[in-house]
Amino acid sequence: MHRVIYRLIYASRARPFRSEDVAGILRQSHENNPAAGVTGALCLLDGVYMQYLEGPQAAVEHLFARLLDDERHGKLQLLDRGPVPSRVFPDWSMALLDWDERIRAVFVRHGMPLPLDLYATPSDQAAELFAALARTPSWVPL
Ligand SMILES: Cc1cc2nc3c(=O)[nH]c(=O)nc-3n(C[C@H](O)[C@H](O)[C@H](O)COP(=O)(O)O)c2cc1C
Repeated sequence: MHRVIYRLIYASRARPFRSEDVAGILRQSHENNPAAGVTGALCLLDGVYMQYLEGPQAAVEHLFARLLDDERHGKLQLLDRGPVPSRVFPDWSMALLDWDERIRAVFVRHGMPLPLDLYATPSDQAAELFAALARTPSWVPL
């Protein structure tokens, strides 16, 4: 039977930003996400996270509830959530993207003003923007 995939995308500010936090987040993602059937990607641009989560709805919403409680980020803003036909990141329990010129070019191509404000990402563009980011070779799959 076809299992419905549910995706959720949000932006949040890392506070305060410490590089060791990212390593910890990725470690937790690797420990928890495969068992929950969750895949996705995390990008960190100028101290703001944008995360794409996909999997069974209950698992994704359960993880989101934990995220809402996590003090490593603040001002969490939901950008998009809902059922989708398939996964965009089937092979990544979590990958990390860091800022570089290729990434800047993707945002500019999608009409995002600079300096970049991930919180201003239009909901109906969040998934497409993220997929375009994922096609750049800047990812560090972990
Ligand atoms: C930006 C950000 C992204 C995160 N992504 C995940 C994730 O994909 N999976 C996960 O299990 N925890 C993630 N976490 C950590 C959770 O908020 C939470 O600390 C963790 O799931 C608790 O699990 P544990 O009790 O097994 O350590 C993330 C935290 C932050 C700040």
